[in-house]
Amino acid sequence: MPVRSILAGVGGYLPARIVTNAELATRLETSDAWIRDRTGIRQRHIAAAHETCAFMATAAARAALARAGAEPGEVDAILLATSTPDQAFPATALRVQAALGVPGGFGFDLSAACAGFVYALSVADGMIRSGQVRGVLVIGAEVYSRIMNWQDRGTCVLFGDGAGAVFLRAGEGRGSIDRGVLSTHLHAQGTLGDILYVDGAVGQPDKPGTLVMNGREVFRHAVVRLAEAVDEALAANALTRRDVDWLVPHQANLRIIDAMGKRLGLPAERVVVTVDRHANTSAASVPLALAEAVGDGRIRAGDLVLLEALGGGLTWGSALVRM
Ligand code: UT7
Repeated sequence: MPVRSILAGVGGYLPARIVTNAELATRLETSDAWIRDRTGIRQRHIAAAHETCAFMATAAARAALARAGAEPGEVDAILLATSTPDQAFPATALRVQAALGVPGGFGFDLSAACAGFVYALSVADGMIRSGQVRGVLVIGAEVYSRIMNWQDRGTCVLFGDGAGAVFLRAGEGRGSIDRGVLSTHLHAQGTLGDILYVDGAVGQPDKPGTLVMNGREVFRHAVVRLAEAVDEALAANALTRRDVDWLVPHQANLRIIDAMGKRLGLPAERVVVTVDRHANTSAASVPLALAEAVGDGRIRAGDLVLLEALGGGLTWGSALVRM
């Protein structure tokens, strides 16, 4: 039997502090009605000083390991998708390795903005299939509140902080009925780098950088690219829309999420939505949504789940998983 990556456990972490649209409207020229109508967002979680990327990633990873019944010694690799690491180096993944007491293996951070978790899942899946590793923590963790321009109402109302993680364990499987990651597909178009970016980094003189976005352009590309990604994932597995039990999309905008759900012909209750409460947590958004729906018993063993995401780069991709 071929080796396959089984999603053995999923976990999430959200900062305690909640910032409502109404609170933002006290310091910005915006309104709860505008934010809800255009995005579906009602609130977001914002990290306190101690809630760094590593702190939140560790909490999410610990929850994923607990759900999988896995010990730190089972972790051969940690792949952490983030655009907001604690430090340029060491990789935040290795801060997590130390905090969890993982005795060996390796880890690294991966930068693919909001598509980062799907990218990391794809890399981890390839490593498991090749036999290089047997247990991998795949984490998406972000503190976008620290790269926001809090004067720019066009972006700062859209994002939140948090972390989500899955523990992948090598198993065996064949076809689309057996458990595991069935396929992943990644894409990027660097020529579109200027429609969503951070205008600085530690390598730039005196410029840590804040997020800049042409929302309308990103929206336009998201609808087209994500629809293609959905079709591509199904075609690669000789499956149809009717086979999909759950859509777990990137949580950027309820209008985009609804469009994807309609494209799959899924009733709204089969599309996992957290954007209303979490806002856009970038690389953390898909694993956080997955953790919520697995945690509350909606997504069950045997369900076919389609994950998709798009972000700055542009980067986008999908993963089709039998839970
Ligand atoms: O995670 C990465 C992927 N990101 C995305 O997928 C985001 C995709 N884009 C979007 O979700 C939407 O484009 C936004 C939610 C960002 C914006 O919605 P929109 O319907 O495209 O609005 P817009 O940017 O075209 O702005 C419409 C109007 C503008 O005013 P004028 O020029 O029409 O007078 C903005 O200045 O809304 C104004 N506006 C606001 N008004 C109140 C922009 N931000 C706000 C705000 N409150 N927070």
